[in-house]
Amino acid sequence: MLSTWLASQRQLCAPSMKKSPVFYRNIEEALDVRRADQSFLTIVKNNWKVSGAIDFCSNDLLGLGNSGALRAEFNAELQRYPDMPLGSGASRMFDGNYGYLEMVEQEIADFHGAETGIIINSGFEANTAIYQSILRQGDAVVYDELVHASTHDGIKHSSVMVAKPFRHNDVLDLQNILTDLLEEYPLIRQGKRSVIVAVESIYSMDGDFSPLKEMIQIVKEMFPAGNCQFVVDEAHSTGVIGPYGKGLVCELGVEDDIAIRLHTFGKALGSTGAIILANKTVKAAIVNFSRSTIYTTAPAFTAVAGIRASYNLLKSGSPTQAQEHIQNIVVLFFSLLSEDPIIQQGLEEGILSIPLLNDWESRPLQSHVVAVEVKDRKCLWLFFHLVVNTNVSTMPVTYPTVPMNSDRLRITLHGSNTEHEVVRLAGGLSEWVQEMLELGATSMKAAEAEQMSSAARQVYSW
Ligand SMILES: Cc1ncc(COP(=O)(O)O)c(C=O)c1O
Repeated sequence: MLSTWLASQRQLCAPSMKKSPVFYRNIEEALDVRRADQSFLTIVKNNWKVSGAIDFCSNDLLGLGNSGALRAEFNAELQRYPDMPLGSGASRMFDGNYGYLEMVEQEIADFHGAETGIIINSGFEANTAIYQSILRQGDAVVYDELVHASTHDGIKHSSVMVAKPFRHNDVLDLQNILTDLLEEYPLIRQGKRSVIVAVESIYSMDGDFSPLKEMIQIVKEMFPAGNCQFVVDEAHSTGVIGPYGKGLVCELGVEDDIAIRLHTFGKALGSTGAIILANKTVKAAIVNFSRSTIYTTAPAFTAVAGIRASYNLLKSGSPTQAQEHIQNIVVLFFSLLSEDPIIQQGLEEGILSIPLLNDWESRPLQSHVVAVEVKDRKCLWLFFHLVVNTNVSTMPVTYPTVPMNSDRLRITLHGSNTEHEVVRLAGGLSEWVQEMLELGATSMKAAEAEQMSSAARQVYSW
């Protein structure tokens, strides 16, 4: 697995392009900037899947993507509609709409306790569609600073004039920004223009939950006319959080307080696409104003049948055991880390930082995403260590996916991970911290090359 990754990195040297047309040279020049600051991305074959490494990195949280159960349900769904054309053939606004698609949209909306829904080809396009459609002149958007790139793009490509970030999950900062908006914009103060608050139920790179209830409370107090509404992106809670995996909004029972929810199907549901849940007014706005919905082919029957198959499984309750198991193994992981003196020393000495470890015991609900922040190249060393010595696959995440100087290992715990595997993962982390502590102790004497972790030295020598 690592050798493929390494080979892909070795291709990364700006080719000598003296004889190439300027078109290509200029593109390579732009790529060189990424190479220079080590933020060059490559598409590497994800061969942990066939290498036998333990999966602590994929988004296939319930194992549906790999499970025979989803495949069987999908095949059964295809059999139930033997005469359905496989493609949709056109945009929904022309003749690409069809009864089955509308039926599935309503079924999903009912499942999540929403009035209606519209299926979009991807979560990314859905976020673009939302912000392109719902904002009127004079409205404002306030968004958590860590929202997904698709929300940033959606806001950027909307017509909104005022878009302000608030500090991540900081209810007080949200309140301050809303206060400023009320003071600065009379039409908002008079309840004639709206403010949209954009949050995620679980943040993909940090794994923490949004303090949604506290935010709703504040917004209700500050905007009694109802001209402040929420968009909640449930990409990472869909299928894993809430009753039957309905998401955080349903878990908290705040369906009536949230104007728009986005559920994506590409993660826990083992499928692809997304649905925007809202009332009929918002759906009509998406249909009328979202260019990414109007000017694209409607989702194909095969895609919608796959989505319905996942929902059939959710509704049947069969993934409930996997959802509960995730909660249990996250607790196991945190307790192992908390009880490990080496991990504790590593935390104290700043070798690593695990923000979610701080108050895990007081949380009623655990997130399946755990970020282990490790500075600089050492993030890769930890990744190497876990693969080489523990046969565990995690996800190193660096800038620009996360802010500068906040490199981290993103660990996702699945319904299919065993307790034994979690013990192994915690043990692997501990071993690496021990090695780092030892390197630190000898760093005055050791040559620079020798200070590299043993797994990193091994990988780089391949
Ligand atoms: C929070 C969030 N929203 C939206 C998306 C985009 O969803 P999709 O992969 O279906 O385009 C992602 C994907 O990573 C995400 O993490």
